[in-house]
This record gives sequence, C-alpha cells and structure tokens, in this order.
Amino acid sequence: MKFAVGADHAGWANKKWIVETLRERGHEVVDVGTDGEDSVDYPDFAVKVARAVASGECNAGVLICGTGIGMSMAANKTRGVRAAACQTVEGARYSRAHNDANVLCLGSRLNDREELRRILDAWLDADFEGGRHQARVEKIGALDEERPC
Ligand code: RB5
Repeated sequence: MKFAVGADHAGWANKKWIVETLRERGHEVVDVGTDGEDSVDYPDFAVKVARAVASGECNAGVLICGTGIGMSMAANKTRGVRAAACQTVEGARYSRAHNDANVLCLGSRLNDREELRRILDAWLDADFEGGRHQARVEKIGALDEERPC
C-alpha cells in the first residue's frame, strides 16, 4: 500500500519512526512533512495527507500532532476522508473494523512511544468488516454530498 504521512512540530519526532515502520512493513510512503521543531500549523499538513488519500494517490494516511484531534478535524473536511483520532488500541481496531477509517491520527502528547506503536500496529493489522457497517460508512460519504456549502 501507499501511505501519506504528515505531522506538525508536536508530532515530528514520532513521524520519523512511523515512516520507517511503514517502509519496514513493505509500504510505500509519501512524507509531506513537517521536518523539524519549528512551529507550524497542523491543518496545512492534514490537508496534504487528506487530499493524497482522497485523490487516490495514496491508499491511506497517518497524521500526528500533539493530540491527533486537530489533525482529524482538518482532514475530515476533505470529501471521502474518514480520519480517526485514536488514543487506544481498541479504538484503532474499531476505527478500521467498523468505520473503515482511511486516515489514522495520533497524539504525541497523549500516548508514549510504545503505546503509539501498539496503536499504529493495531490499525495496520485490522480490516474493515463490511456487512452491516458498509451502509453506515456509505451514509457518512453521503453527508459530503448533502453539505450545503
Ligand atoms: C500544537 O501546539 C497543538 O495544538 C497541535 O499539535 C495539536 O495537538 C492540535 O490538535
């Protein structure tokens, strides 16, 4: 698979091993930055990852900031993106199994590195279950079409 990966200054240090982990697992990675500790605005990186996924250039994305929350809010503005801010292994599994999340958002300030690794692994290892969840996910997509502006 091909992943788009992005971070702000709060997530940058973790982005480095996330990119390595994805490559070690045999995935292709598009790293959209940021690449240092200088303060940047997380929506600028969320939108790059979201558009790479929505356009089909990448199959999925991983974003990391201080909490994962701002990244998910920004990424979910892009049509077709289902970004999930996950702070637990179980949440990561469900976001794939039930919600078919195509962007994982992690928080450097909420989980230590070992827990972030477990969350990332759980997300990568889980599959969408389809079935009754399929129609629900399609309803999320239909909301994009209904958006008044
Ligand atoms: C940056 O200080 C911080 O606000 C950002 O990384 C993120 O946590 C936003 O949701």
